[in-house]
Amino acid sequence: PETELESHFERTIERDQRIEPRDWAPEGYRKTMVRQIAQHAHSEIIGMQPEGNWITRAPSLRRKAILLAKVQDEAGHGLYLYSAAETLGVDRADLTEKLISGRQKYSSIFNYPTLTFADVGVIGWLVDGAAICNQVPLCRSSYGPYARAMVRICKEESFHQRQGYELLMTMMRGTGQQREMVQEAVDRWWWPSLMMFGPPDADSPNTAQSMAWKVKRHTNDELRQRFVDMSVPQAEALGVTFPDPDLAWNADRGHYDFGAVDWAEFKNVLQGNGPCNAQRIARRRRAHDEGAWVREAAAAHAAKNQEATA
Ligand code: 3HC
Repeated sequence: PETELESHFERTIERDQRIEPRDWAPEGYRKTMVRQIAQHAHSEIIGMQPEGNWITRAPSLRRKAILLAKVQDEAGHGLYLYSAAETLGVDRADLTEKLISGRQKYSSIFNYPTLTFADVGVIGWLVDGAAICNQVPLCRSSYGPYARAMVRICKEESFHQRQGYELLMTMMRGTGQQREMVQEAVDRWWWPSLMMFGPPDADSPNTAQSMAWKVKRHTNDELRQRFVDMSVPQAEALGVTFPDPDLAWNADRGHYDFGAVDWAEFKNVLQGNGPCNAQRIARRRRAHDEGAWVREAAAAHAAKNQEATA
């Protein structure tokens, strides 16, 4: 009976144990897991575009090779996450359709342009840094396949963050113009990076339930604060500043105070009006259409093999 199944589910969550694909779970739990995992996967795949633009324009073979490896990693993260979503009975072709038709989201951060090569470093440092802040706790998420995907993704993300920070350290030892490029990129990416953690807890419809089901282990504001506290010393070591006059250490709180995030901009980007939303979706649609022949050929090949072994 449901009540017995329900209390088993609750006990499993209480004991910090994992819910596995074949375990009973409330419909709402499955729905929110599909929602979060699919959007996470979409974010990884769309996230290949901003940096992908710089692979052919990298200033050295070393930088090109590193960037190629990072973009390939993002593709892999997307595939792990689509596989994790499929354990919940959804199909990645359907999820891709929902992404392309705007019925599922991807992270707002990827709707901003990458204007100079310093952006590649700042994305590695701040965007992948924010992703790490968000993803490390997700290694303890209650849904087994999602948590396990996070373990591998977090290992690769730390390479992403280190290569970005090292790129910026190199540029900061360069000419005045290179140092200005880094600061200008930091000025553009700082606030959008804070928006990656989601709306304030008070405006977050999913946080309370996701915390109760231990899908999330910290709230949006907690992780945003952790990211700010971690980033300020790194900015000082790099020799750059963040574009926030209210950023200051608060000894009473033991955290950095920071200014108000522009949630109107956040909402605007989520509604599709960011600088690059249309371009990112058009590019994803085109890649999907251009890849149709590969999917058809693979399916035909698999069918032929099945006939042969039947
Ligand atoms: N961009 C786009 N949509 C966002 C968002 C953002 N930065 N922040 C919140 N939203 C959406 C939510 O999806 C939700 O909409 P929905 O109900 O239609 O899904 C709505 O805004 C309200 O937000 P909530 O806080 O209530 O939603 P969540 O509880 O899902 O919290 C989240 C949002 C913190 C992003 C959470 O979904 C999460 O932790 N997701 C997994 C991590 C993730 O997706 N990271 C993407 C970062 S990019 C990345 O990882 C690539 C890396 O390689 C750089």
